[in-house]
Amino acid sequence: MIYIIDFGSQTTHLINRRLVRMGVKTKIITPGRLSNLLSPKKPSGIILSGGPSSVNDRDSLTIDPKIFTLDIPILGICYGLQIAAKLLKGEVVSGDVQEFGPAQLEVVNSCELFSGIPEQFKVWMSHGDKVNRVPKGFHIVARTEDVRVAAMSNEAKKIYGIQFHPEVSHTKYGEEILENFVKICGLEVEQNEVNINTVVNDLKGQIPEGNAICGVSGGIDSTVAAILCAKAIGKRLKPVYIESGLMRYGTKKLVKDIFKKHVGIDVQVIRAKGRFLQKLKGITDPEQKRKIIGRLYVKLFEEEAKKVKNVKYLVQGTIYSDVIESKGTEHSDKIKSHHNVGGLPKKMNLKVVEPLREFYKDEVRLLGSDLRLPAAVVFTQPFPGPGQAIRILGEINSKRLKKQQQADQIVIEEFKRFGWYEKVFQCFPIMTGVNSTAVKGDRRKYAEVVAIRAYESKDIMTSSWPYLPQKLMQSISSRIVNEVPDVSRVVYDITTKPPATMEWE
Ligand code: XMP
Repeated sequence: MIYIIDFGSQTTHLINRRLVRMGVKTKIITPGRLSNLLSPKKPSGIILSGGPSSVNDRDSLTIDPKIFTLDIPILGICYGLQIAAKLLKGEVVSGDVQEFGPAQLEVVNSCELFSGIPEQFKVWMSHGDKVNRVPKGFHIVARTEDVRVAAMSNEAKKIYGIQFHPEVSHTKYGEEILENFVKICGLEVEQNEVNINTVVNDLKGQIPEGNAICGVSGGIDSTVAAILCAKAIGKRLKPVYIESGLMRYGTKKLVKDIFKKHVGIDVQVIRAKGRFLQKLKGITDPEQKRKIIGRLYVKLFEEEAKKVKNVKYLVQGTIYSDVIESKGTEHSDKIKSHHNVGGLPKKMNLKVVEPLREFYKDEVRLLGSDLRLPAAVVFTQPFPGPGQAIRILGEINSKRLKKQQQADQIVIEEFKRFGWYEKVFQCFPIMTGVNSTAVKGDRRKYAEVVAIRAYESKDIMTSSWPYLPQKLMQSISSRIVNEVPDVSRVVYDITTKPPATMEWE
């Protein structure tokens, strides 16, 4: 078994999933509990995760330094590297360099951790502190342009530290690095595939009797969740589509068609646009928007449940990144209350069932392919639960919602026309709420700036923006300023995640 010590990183669970997929048994534990778990049986290895604090902060999380004397292979990642460096009497400095996003790593000394991997490759960074001096007995094994100690090792003691994140898909040989560590721990690597039958059997146990309402949106997560449930409980599943008015044009038809064709169960449509707009009136804070939308969704599901006999469960397509970003672990920061996680009311009449809660997006897509869903559904771009509400900065009203939907339709059409829709993870416009001056038909016009966000991602925890063809950018820009009323200009967002999240709100 490998223990993963959680210092509150957004990606602790991603480390866990990567190891589980390699057939390794794991346990995620908080730093304070580690000492109790080290005897009588020691783990084969320990990974120290990243975390949001600085090791130089007065109250930052730490760990019993004894762990470095127990002959257990240790891998520190980001904060984990820094805490190891600090406790072993190296030096960590705060603040003079911050690195978020891609960096080119250069391996400068041989190290088991990088065995079989090229000497230069792209890694993903997210840190404000850096190791300035490695502890006694350690070597610098890799660097980047900005960071001299991007990796360090003490081969004799099998203690390693890396500044970048091998668990995210944007780090080129991340999986190989974790595999190397697993081998250093003396464990074997065997790839474990996600299995439909396990999930279906689990669902049969979770919904032993009674009916379940399932919120569906046409996206891959809720579609896969609903199909897995239909496999487990058949017609006891009642798929419901809430027409909030916040979705993309054409979503209702899409949902109805998918369920008719692939599940054989009709979707109940609840028309509720007016109620959503009413509740969102005057609301500008993104967290409040999410909570309002989440609560109204549940209210509507509960109202619907009362109309059908014996409904006891609410099935949702929540996936792991939703949970993590809504404060997944004790020490992690809350980035957003994804409305289907943090936005749910405390007291609910329905029991929530989330078959995909442990899965990442790429794994859900694998399940979708195994379920023989057509590629158009499996690779449809994810759309956030609160929909256009979090892509319209500031207050939402019918007029701005219509503008957003028109611009969104244009972006999707153009990306498809240029063959770029499948190349990116998501692409969409944002109504920024900022006005700027334009000259239209010789007249001065003071109107809204629309931003375009497009990015590449697999696991949702990291993303980069693509170099889009100029013709595509030109076409989107011309169409939006010409076809959508009250738009002055179009800009392209060129920020990676981290530091910027994908959605603006
Ligand atoms: P961020 O903006 O957090 O987005 O980098 C990561 C992914 O999650 C989606 N997203 C949401 N999905 N409820 C959801 O169901 C939400 O509140 C929410 N916020 C963001 C986002 O579209 C992206 O795919």
